[in-house]
Amino acid sequence: MDMSLPDFHRGRRLRRSPAIRALVRETRLTPDRLLLPLFVTEGDGVREPVASMPGVARTSIDGLVADVLEARELGIGGVLLFGVPSPTNKDERGSGAWVDDGIIQRAVATVKDRAPDFLVATDVCLCEYTSHGHCGLIDGTGRVENDATLELLAGTAVSHARAGADLVAPSDMMDGRVGAIREALDGEGFGDLPIMSYAAKYSSAFYGPFREAAGSAPSFGDRRSYQMDPANGGEALREVFADLDEGADIVMVKPALPYLDVIRRVADESGAPVAAYQVSGEYAAILAGARAGHLDGDAAMMEALTSIHRAGAGIVITYWAREFAREVGNI
Ligand code: PBG
Repeated sequence: MDMSLPDFHRGRRLRRSPAIRALVRETRLTPDRLLLPLFVTEGDGVREPVASMPGVARTSIDGLVADVLEARELGIGGVLLFGVPSPTNKDERGSGAWVDDGIIQRAVATVKDRAPDFLVATDVCLCEYTSHGHCGLIDGTGRVENDATLELLAGTAVSHARAGADLVAPSDMMDGRVGAIREALDGEGFGDLPIMSYAAKYSSAFYGPFREAAGSAPSFGDRRSYQMDPANGGEALREVFADLDEGADIVMVKPALPYLDVIRRVADESGAPVAAYQVSGEYAAILAGARAGHLDGDAAMMEALTSIHRAGAGIVITYWAREFAREVGNI
């Protein structure tokens, strides 16, 4: 009888035990690479669950502080804050976005006071603050005006910087906004403050639950005239290089799981730190599947987050940051 081994790859040798699998594991996402998005709203003692995102809530500043301290305790890299003003504080221009005593400015100042060494990033956009829900000014014909919006975004970023933000993250997708923000920050003495731009932000159905959380659904039309067409990959590189030229320090791809190819291209070609945002719809879809008993939610969470990191995202923004941090010891 011929006992020679067949000539094929024995990949299973390195999958035999947890120890050997750990030894050869190529990618290991750690909590310090995660940013946890949190929604802050007016009031006191407020914790309103977001129906479409189980486990996510809008909190007043006191609750936000508790969540931030917990995130710090868990070793999470930082938080990404979104202001949710009361509807009476919205107007056509979104002026609640940049006022010194706005919801986000007060929230940042309080959090930095309570946790000075913990990284606080802020989302810079107008859509939560405009009565029409668009990310910029609207002209007489219903179009979102690009250039006139830039100074408002720049003023918003400066107000976040004054409040003590460690990182500003423009998510509006107006052309030229990174340069406008950089110039304004430099001019106000915030030359050291980094910008994480939502560089390749797609016009995505996966933002649905967020718009409920932040109360930022457009009251007419959609965001396709400023957010990217999901069919485009090369264009993401143009957006990334434009933002880097204008002074972005970190570039983001958003959403994450449906755009792993874009994350990989951006990571390979830009040489810049790359963040990916696992958005509200990615979170809600997996949780809904888990709640219906169709899949193991924790395992799907770990797999999705690991895949986003494997694709090239050094930083992952996820509503699961706390659950991941708790789970990570057990894989
Ligand atoms: C604001 C903004 C959005 C998200 C982050 N910043 C919504 C949008 O563009 O409509 C989406 C985040 C998520 O879905 O989790 N411009």
